[in-house]
Amino acid sequence: MTAQRIDGNALSRQLRTSVAERVSALKTRGITPGLAVVLVGDNPASQVYVRNKVKACEDTGMHSVLEKYETAMTEAELLARIEALNNDPTIHGILVQLPLPAHMDAHMVIETISPAKDVDGFHVASAGALMVGQPGFWPCTPYGCMKMLESIGYNLRGKHAVVIGRSNIVGKPMALMLLQQNATVTICHSATPDLKAMTLQADVIVAAVGKRNVLTADMVKPGAVVLDVGMNRNDEGKLCGDVDFDGVSQVASYITPVPGGVGPMTITMLMVNTLESAERCLSAT
Ligand code: GUN
Repeated sequence: MTAQRIDGNALSRQLRTSVAERVSALKTRGITPGLAVVLVGDNPASQVYVRNKVKACEDTGMHSVLEKYETAMTEAELLARIEALNNDPTIHGILVQLPLPAHMDAHMVIETISPAKDVDGFHVASAGALMVGQPGFWPCTPYGCMKMLESIGYNLRGKHAVVIGRSNIVGKPMALMLLQQNATVTICHSATPDLKAMTLQADVIVAAVGKRNVLTADMVKPGAVVLDVGMNRNDEGKLCGDVDFDGVSQVASYITPVPGGVGPMTITMLMVNTLESAERCLSAT
């Protein structure tokens, strides 16, 4: 079997076109969706991420502000900025790029963002809403994975999904989203004794560990769907995921590549969340 690729770039383009149309419709009603991106320090990867987020706003017709601060900024100063953005009616989404400098408490910073503007879906209120199936913002990466499954018409009811990784940003919310769609979900992690025994039972596998070759062909049931959330570098310095793409492609029915898979979907879902935050504002008036 040679797996079909789920093309995250193509799906992102399609979704961003629809976001741009909804942004135009909102503008005719006097609201321009606005995203504030806050970056503290000079982490090179973060600089690239925030640039891409601001560019995605421009491409979809949204308003964005990029606030960049020196590493020396105090936590109190950052919290004050977040409070100001919470009260700014032109801003519908607030994103504080992680990681933050070591002298800041990331949890405290995220909890200061108003849940109504938490378009990253990292606030405890957002996590709780997802857990109990109430409306709220879903974290963008697992949300993007769900959109990829939807794009191939995959029905999760009665299927066994195995999530490898238990982070608050991907693994745990991913498991809850799959559960909400009636999958039977197993979460595996570094203390799982026999990962292969688990993945061999899976109809859907999401690899979100941050380590190359966590999933190889011998660990995959023929016909399984494989989503690769990893972003690593191989020995030649090329971007690669957590999955042995060439090997697993021979066994799986669908697979997401790296690059060009889940990555572009993360920013796309950030645009969707920001747009929906602005739409909620309209329906609240
Ligand atoms: N750092 C790496 N990924 C992300 C993300 O999705 N959101 C934020 N805020 N920071 C990140």
